[in-house]
Amino acid sequence: MKIIIINGPNLNLLGKREPTIYGDLSFDNFFKELKKKYADVELSYFQSNIEGEIIDKIHEVGFNFDGIILNAGAYTHTSIAIGDAIKGVETPVVEVHISNVHSREDFRHISYIAPNAKGVIAGFGLQSYELALESFL
Ligand code: DQA
Repeated sequence: MKIIIINGPNLNLLGKREPTIYGDLSFDNFFKELKKKYADVELSYFQSNIEGEIIDKIHEVGFNFDGIILNAGAYTHTSIAIGDAIKGVETPVVEVHISNVHSREDFRHISYIAPNAKGVIAGFGLQSYELALESFL
């Protein structure tokens, strides 16, 4: 089973960025543990702060991977282009958020990912990624 986690803008700062919202663990450390725990899964990781690079990655994996776990960060709330990319590929996408976006500012209640996603997981910290992974198994 081939699964990729794609993280969008500012998620490279996890562990340092607004730790009261996003926690104090870096994604690299979390990802190492996740790979160990799910050793049978071919799990890969991509992060970019650039919208077009996220779209290119979705196109690249979107016909030969079994699942995409996507935290598009703030692009979730703005990017029709990422929404269209998900519509255009075959691989199912699970939208993930570390924080509960629905308990935050109004602009975070809008998602251009969700209408084209298989499901949405938000508010469980980094465990949101693990729950998304479980949904593919
Ligand atoms: C986020 C929520 C977004 O609103 C925010 O812009 C992020 C992170 C989350 O994981 O909780 O960058 O996607």
